[in-house]
Amino acid sequence: MKVAVGCDHAGFVLKEAVLGALDEMKIEHKDFGCFSAEPVDYPDIAGQVGREVASGEYERGILMCGTGIGMSIAANKVKGVRAAHCPDVLSARLSRAHNNANVLTMGGRILGPELAAAIVKEWIRTEFDSGGRHSRRVNKVAQLESGEV
Ligand code: RB5
Repeated sequence: MKVAVGCDHAGFVLKEAVLGALDEMKIEHKDFGCFSAEPVDYPDIAGQVGREVASGEYERGILMCGTGIGMSIAANKVKGVRAAHCPDVLSARLSRAHNNANVLTMGGRILGPELAAAIVKEWIRTEFDSGGRHSRRVNKVAQLESGEV
């Protein structure tokens, strides 16, 4: 699995915990920035990481901003992205099992590094519970996105 990672200035510190968790799991990843606490606009990073995931170049993406909310809203504007804002481990697990989330977002002003690392690990290792009602529902989300319904 290849994971694209990105943050804005408010997620910059938390990104270290995310990269550390991916290193511990030996998950291949690329850091798409930002690379300092200098202010940047979260939609720019969300768009970049979202497009990498939507294109299939990266299977998953992880994005951090101050709350995780802006990154989630922005990444979900990229067709094919299912971004989930997960401030806890159960949300992370269910966003994978039920929603097949391909982008995880978290808040650098909300979470500490240990909880963020635990969320990342759970989100990475949880498989989509495919083939049944969850697949049907995720397919309906895709139909909404494409304007089919
Ligand atoms: C930046 O100040 C902050 O607005 C941003 O990181 C994010 O929390 C937006 O949702």
